[in-house]
Amino acid sequence: MTPDLDYLVRIATHAGEILMEGYLQQHEIRHKGRIDLVTEMDGRSEQYLLGEIRRDFKDHTIVTEESGILRGNQVACWFIDPLDGTANYAHGVPIFSVTVAYAIQNRIVLGVTLDPTRGQCFSAERGKGAFLNGVPVHVSATRELVDAMLVTGFPTDLKKSEKNNLDNFSSFLMQVQSIRRLGSAALDIAYVAAGWLDGYWEIGIHPWDIAAGTLLVEEAGGLVTDLNGETDYFKSPYALVTANPVLHAKLLTMLQSTNGR
Ligand code: IPD
Repeated sequence: MTPDLDYLVRIATHAGEILMEGYLQQHEIRHKGRIDLVTEMDGRSEQYLLGEIRRDFKDHTIVTEESGILRGNQVACWFIDPLDGTANYAHGVPIFSVTVAYAIQNRIVLGVTLDPTRGQCFSAERGKGAFLNGVPVHVSATRELVDAMLVTGFPTDLKKSEKNNLDNFSSFLMQVQSIRRLGSAALDIAYVAAGWLDGYWEIGIHPWDIAAGTLLVEEAGGLVTDLNGETDYFKSPYALVTANPVLHAKLLTMLQSTNGR
């Protein structure tokens, strides 16, 4: 059996229901780093997703945020973030998601990012388009930086690392209409696919945060690259730039002028 988009939507939706059961409740919060949180609900959502996929696709590889890499065959691979936006969730801010992607031979072919608080399900299948709750979506047509609303995030080691995104942030801030920092990279990228935000960039991002989003944006007519304009963005160090093709070129030029920092 091979998975289809309905399968991904079904498991992401149920994982979202698990998250909503625990939303605004007291949490067991563990620190993976000083500002990198994980709650018991990340674990519950992930255990559910892993249980489903391992039962239905026994020999597939799975890359998850909390359990690492569960090695299976080298052809079929899943990327799972059971709760993207953990810090928001732990604080009660209703901006978080479940994001699931399926790749064949290192190419994402199915992707779903679900926002359980708003019932918004972003989905894409390679060659078949990107959708919000079944309705086609497209990246924005904004061409000028001064008209663009961008979104970004910051790496969890930003207090120690030179690559903290602050140079990028301040340079863009002076040139674009505005910048958002929502706290769920998967939703940031889904919003670019939907045309609500014009562009996204982030450094120090993880494959499970971005896998579904890369397909969403490509299928919505946008470009997705690393800071060098290469499409092999799953290679370390992870960095991602996404926008419509015209804006994407301008974002890249800007990021290269700050050396991506
Ligand atoms: C984080 C969020 C955030 C991004 C961080 C991620 P998590 O994921 O996506 O927006 O800026 O880089 O680590 O830890 O909440 O799953």
